[in-house]
Amino acid sequence: MATILAIESSCDETSIAIIKDDELLANVVATQISMHQQFGGVMPELASRLHCENVLYVLDEAVRKANIKLEDVDAFAFTRGPGLVGALHIGMQVAKTLAMLYDKPLIPVHHLAAHIYANEYVKPLKFPLLSIVVSGGNTEFVYMKESLDFEIIGETKDDAIGECFDKVARTVGLPYPGGIPIDKLSKEGKHTYKLPFPLHDDSLDFSYSGLKTAVINLVNNEKQKGHEINVPDLCKSFQDVAVGMIMDRLDKALDRYDIKQVVLAGGVSANSYLREMMHKRLDNTDVDLIVPPIWCTTDNAAMIARLASHLYDLKIFAPLSVSADPNWRIDKYKIF
Ligand code: KG4
Repeated sequence: MATILAIESSCDETSIAIIKDDELLANVVATQISMHQQFGGVMPELASRLHCENVLYVLDEAVRKANIKLEDVDAFAFTRGPGLVGALHIGMQVAKTLAMLYDKPLIPVHHLAAHIYANEYVKPLKFPLLSIVVSGGNTEFVYMKESLDFEIIGETKDDAIGECFDKVARTVGLPYPGGIPIDKLSKEGKHTYKLPFPLHDDSLDFSYSGLKTAVINLVNNEKQKGHEINVPDLCKSFQDVAVGMIMDRLDKALDRYDIKQVVLAGGVSANSYLREMMHKRLDNTDVDLIVPPIWCTTDNAAMIARLASHLYDLKIFAPLSVSADPNWRIDKYKIF
């Protein structure tokens, strides 16, 4: 048990959290979304600059909210990857500076593993567990026989599901991040457009680029014919197929693996239809389900702190020479 300060800067949120003996004392998040919206997606260079501008204000506010002194912190944690390389470096460098200044250990944290452990803010994880990691950059099924043991049993062969939501939204003129308006408009729409199920095979893998292209082609064809697109209907048709792919893979995974609990992780886990389908599939079965609270689905340092506290207990620290890894795979998390 310890006081840990954690920094998240992998994409477009600058966040610092402080956790003490499992109690979350502060979780300050400065989001850059409004600055990236004009580009229809995250601009990596701009993200790095904004992290530089914001990080010390966020640090100041986190320390004030937690009502602690920096010298009281037992370890400094940071997101080592995956993420945007320039963005990761800012948080890492702040963590290294603090660790050096206060002569405390440095804890490297895997961003997606932290999304999984964020579910501990709801209730304890139960193993063996299946985590459905669905975000703007990743789509994977991660099987965990025990804590901190990560095996990828299925992953996307091309685009991530969140990326697909964002591209489809852009195609029909909806703002970034596209998952949010698609989720909302789907509630007013009907499944009227025919879209292909992306990957008809027996694996647990995913594919979203074909679905994205099918939507773009459909929109272009309708435009050429002078037909107006019914955006809520298209959103609903697309969302059904995108989420349907996850549900198909979930059924297969439940058949093939010993699974006591299923947890959702990542930005797309905010999707209300995915959440509804997960409850429909798993409520009243002997498989437990954790759906993270919405605040845990977006990037934040509370989840980094949560996983860091496990790593602290096991004394899994990094040297000051550690580097960020923008492509760090969760199954290459050689922390022992
Ligand atoms: O990649 P990610 O975990 O990063 C951040 O949290 O910053 O989550 C962002 C992704 C985007 O692709 C966004 O469109 C998607 O999550 N997203 C959603 C919803 N809310 C966010 N996708 C579907 N339905 C939602 N309600």
